[in-house]
Amino acid sequence: MDPSRISLRPFKLSDVDDFLKWASDDRVTRCLRWNTITSREEALNYLDKVAIPHPWRRSICLDDRSIGYISIKQEAGDDRCRAHVGYALAAEYWGKGVVTVALKMAVSKVFEEIPDLVRLQALVEVENKGSQRVLEKVGFLKEGLLRKYGFCKGEIRDMFVYGFLYTDKVM
Ligand SMILES: CC(C)(COP(=O)(O)OP(=O)(O)OC[C@H]1O[C@@H](n2cnc3c(N)ncnc32)[C@H](O)[C@@H]1OP(=O)(O)O)[C@@H](O)C(=O)NCCC(=O)NCCS
Repeated sequence: MDPSRISLRPFKLSDVDDFLKWASDDRVTRCLRWNTITSREEALNYLDKVAIPHPWRRSICLDDRSIGYISIKQEAGDDRCRAHVGYALAAEYWGKGVVTVALKMAVSKVFEEIPDLVRLQALVEVENKGSQRVLEKVGFLKEGLLRKYGFCKGEIRDMFVYGFLYTDKVM
């Protein structure tokens, strides 16, 4: 995959058909907190009410067409020093380095764009080896195992926590 074809930009309502292609795939949403989108109407509503108003959610684009997302959600108050990272990619593009490139782009920007942010963190299910590898390739540190940490798709999961500080170097 030529990295120059990959970009990050805010979602638009006109992404609806591209978004629906990957957001309607259970393989993509299996490890995500949000449910598989099942119709064009639901996809439009999700873009309008969730993705577009989100303070830092970007479409991962291939030649400017949406094939995935990255979101960075800052906590509030005394916890505003940290933000949670989430991402997913259309299954047909898995294993080509796309999310690694996209996450490197995001990490390189967010500490300048989000005031008070010093730490990014990601929680990854123990079974999700691909996602762990992405974080390691970008330069996140595996900081620990959180046992029975949270529900995902009805099951309580063990999760690794990964962290990246503003002083760390993108690899
Ligand atoms: C996880 C996900 C984001 C990875 O995106 P991607 O663009 O395919 O990732 P990359 O190609 O940049 O890197 C994946 C790496 O994981 C490795 N990998 C993938 N599956 C693996 C597995 N089962 N075991 C070990 N390594 C695995 C790949 O070989 C690659 O490493 P390499 O470059 O050293 O060979 C993508 O599969 C996805 O969207 N999954 C569904 C949503 C999801 O899980 N989101 C993250 C929630 S924490």
